[in-house]
Amino acid sequence: MMIASKPIHLRGGPSCSMMSQIKMVYFMLACAVSQLKLSRNANMEKLRNGYLFPEIGMRQQEHLEKYPDAKIISLGIGDTTEPIPNIITSAMAEYSHALSTREGYRGYGAEQGNKTLRKTIAATMYGDMGIEDTEVFISDGAQCDISRVQLLLGSDVTIAVQDPTFPAYVDSGIIMGQTGDYVAGSSKYGGIEYMKCGPENLFFPDFSRIPRTDVIFFCSPNNPTGHAASREQLVQLVETAHRNGSLIVYDSAYAAYISDDSPRSIYEIPGAKEVAIEISSFSKSAGFTGVRLGWTVVPHELSYSDGFPVHKDFDRIICTCFNGASSIAQIGGLACLSVEGRKAMSKVIDVYKQNARTLAETFGSMGLEAYGGSNSPYVWVRFPGRRSWDVFTEILEKTHVITVPGCGFGPGGEGFIRVSSFNSEECVREACHRLTRLLGRDVLLHIL
Ligand SMILES: Cc1ncc(COP(=O)(O)O)c(C=O)c1O
Ligand SMILES: *[C@@H]1O[C@H](CO)[C@@H](O)[C@H](O)[C@H]1NC(C)=O
Ligand SMILES: *[C@@H]1O[C@H](CO)[C@@H](O)[C@H](O)[C@H]1NC(C)=O
Repeated sequence: MMIASKPIHLRGGPSCSMMSQIKMVYFMLACAVSQLKLSRNANMEKLRNGYLFPEIGMRQQEHLEKYPDAKIISLGIGDTTEPIPNIITSAMAEYSHALSTREGYRGYGAEQGNKTLRKTIAATMYGDMGIEDTEVFISDGAQCDISRVQLLLGSDVTIAVQDPTFPAYVDSGIIMGQTGDYVAGSSKYGGIEYMKCGPENLFFPDFSRIPRTDVIFFCSPNNPTGHAASREQLVQLVETAHRNGSLIVYDSAYAAYISDDSPRSIYEIPGAKEVAIEISSFSKSAGFTGVRLGWTVVPHELSYSDGFPVHKDFDRIICTCFNGASSIAQIGGLACLSVEGRKAMSKVIDVYKQNARTLAETFGSMGLEAYGGSNSPYVWVRFPGRRSWDVFTEILEKTHVITVPGCGFGPGGEGFIRVSSFNSEECVREACHRLTRLLGRDVLLHIL
């Protein structure tokens, strides 16, 4: 509570000081029961559970109180753990130091990002896909741009999401007012089209059975299932968007993990430039979760029903609601995309990918269905007939390993857990050892 430390100054005679004292006391009394004459944003009220990860953090804390000596291994939150290669940090350090010199000082950059970085992303990430530098907007990360895209879309649109998926699309949609209320018992919000993606349908929805929406959020490789959509699947997605005049908001934050020939960008699919925005990030490819750097591609071809270019509106959003990414982070991004930078990044990614394979094999050898892991840092494990939170609790209790309950990513995630490969090779090996030794037989008994 902020209270002026000086007496409130009033014009007039000596009695004023006393007046001001009385006023101050009155003000403080009023503050004691202080409430604004402002009602809560009704959309915020619709948001149901707090974010999944604080809840997991709480459970981890409780577990530590119960077992103070437990060596907890976190395969939970999707945060990177391995150091950023020196070639990247030294470029940022050099630039930072130069900011202390008259010649090296720089202030604001372009709101859309450093031109060289935009060009380099267009060239290295999109090669022959026909993406121009002016279509690439540099951001402070994918999550922030998901919300900026939502701001662009406004409250008057209908949305579809994969189920399960990264919670930010639904939550930002709720905050924007695109949805109805939470539907008790269904773990869904009114007005959202949940496109079930599970092993039954090769993690890809049958669009002919899904009602049209204005916007389709699509994340590939998907968090949490780890599934990278195949070329055929993405052709279907783009065709559906064309047929129905829907906008695809494609999240390729994990593209760097793709090992097979699945597309790394939606723009590998012919016709995508007329129907898709792509949001991406340096977070998971370069360990920039804390540095903060990403980008969004808004093609010039994309236009609203009245012909107005979407690009112009997004540019306006960026200039008004963002003011450009950190120049230091952008220099880091440029270093990432240099030949040596890319080599160094892929070495780190290989550690996580190897971890993911080890985890998938471990769960597989326990007789469980384990998905993902080969095109993503996540392994998605099915526990038939069981609830995600129960499995989470059992694994934590028996092995001191933190995972993420699948139901946190949508109703379609119930019965699964997500296991993240973001940890050191050593910790992942130890986790796998504990899982097979302490969990194996019991888990199998549950199934039989
Ligand atoms: C699918 C997906 N998109 C976006 C993000 C957020 O990325 P950023 O760190 O760039 O905001 C994440 C982070 O976990 C994610 O899983
Ligand atoms: C972008 O960054 C590069 C590399 O530091 C720098 O040389 C260039 O001046 C920057 N460009 C703009 C337009 O700021
Ligand atoms: C697209 O439109 C067709 C009819 O034109 C409809 O059958 C289908 O459900 C729609 N699907 C999506 C995902 O928009």
